[in-house]
Amino acid sequence: MSLSPKPGVMEIEAYVPGRSQAAGAARVYKLSSNESPFGASPNAIAAYEAAERTLGVYPEGTARILRDAIATHYGLAADRIVCGNGSDEILTLLANSYVRPGEEVLFSAHSFSLYRIVTLANSGVPVEVPTPNLALNVDDMIARIGPKTRLVYIANPNNPTATYVSASEMRRLHRALPDSALLVIDAAYSEYVRRNDYEAGIELVSTSTNVVMTRTFSKVYGLAGIRVGWGYCPKGVAEVLHRVRAPFNVNIAAQHAAVAALHDIAHVEKALQHNDLWRSRMTDEIRALGLRVDDSVANFVLIHFPETPGKRADDADRFLMSRGVIMRGCRSYDLPQCLRLTIGSEEANLAALGAIREFMASR
Ligand SMILES: Cc1ncc(COP(=O)(O)O)c(C=O)c1O
Repeated sequence: MSLSPKPGVMEIEAYVPGRSQAAGAARVYKLSSNESPFGASPNAIAAYEAAERTLGVYPEGTARILRDAIATHYGLAADRIVCGNGSDEILTLLANSYVRPGEEVLFSAHSFSLYRIVTLANSGVPVEVPTPNLALNVDDMIARIGPKTRLVYIANPNNPTATYVSASEMRRLHRALPDSALLVIDAAYSEYVRRNDYEAGIELVSTSTNVVMTRTFSKVYGLAGIRVGWGYCPKGVAEVLHRVRAPFNVNIAAQHAAVAALHDIAHVEKALQHNDLWRSRMTDEIRALGLRVDDSVANFVLIHFPETPGKRADDADRFLMSRGVIMRGCRSYDLPQCLRLTIGSEEANLAALGAIREFMASR
């Protein structure tokens, strides 16, 4: 018998990351990966550098210093927190631990592509719930729950649509789920949401046996490069994840930097205020150019381009790249008519606005 991967693996289309280079442009603005324009807190950078003294020694295996800091910060039990090499790792470990071949994993159309990847990697069956209005309708998701449902991934807010599911709708979805299935709330962008009817998921995890919330240090904390994320889990799920994760999955420099980032509240607040201001300004100004921009609760906006030849998203993308503005094409999210724009620094935002204005005015 020849060597072959598990069923499903060859159906995976490899993850397409945001681009980072624009050939020929004098100045490049990378607005393609939802990174923070403020980068990491200076305290996090100092903690990272200080960790160089311990590079030769294995870290404590369970990322205890980071779990303790997160537990104190949010008022959670440290033994229900599992840290990962990015929240990607936690999302992946959940599928690795719970999805058996042929079991179904639900997620919405136009959502984070990792959900499909980890489902297929475990020979599971991806069940994509259509979202014709882009925002997830919980009833449509409930209608797909069946005896083979094992996992439900909800990005809340969702990437790339920047929409969200309210706390009461999330509870309703959870109530419709059997105890044998796990609801995974991927709250990577939760810090950016300013809505009274939104909850990241802590309460739901605390009061159930089959809900996990994942969080990341890659976005508002500006630590995407060193890969730190975490999950808040029912105790039994945390114990499972600790069994299957790699023994030292979060490196020591990342742990120290993340603890310092968590404690630098002023740095986070500055990033959030900037995001509030520019999210609404970018939305208004791009709409004023005649383009559809959906209401966003995150640190990015989804821009819809028309079907008119010369004015399509691909045309816009080429034009913007020539001006050094790198956005995220949404073909891999099945939204070929859209580009996703991360809220950047003031300079980057103005460059993006100027380039879009120039594109729309060009013939
Ligand atoms: C919805 C969503 N979940 C999770 C992640 C992964 O984040 P991390 O850097 O923590 O792996 C991203 C990153 O873009 C995301 O958009």
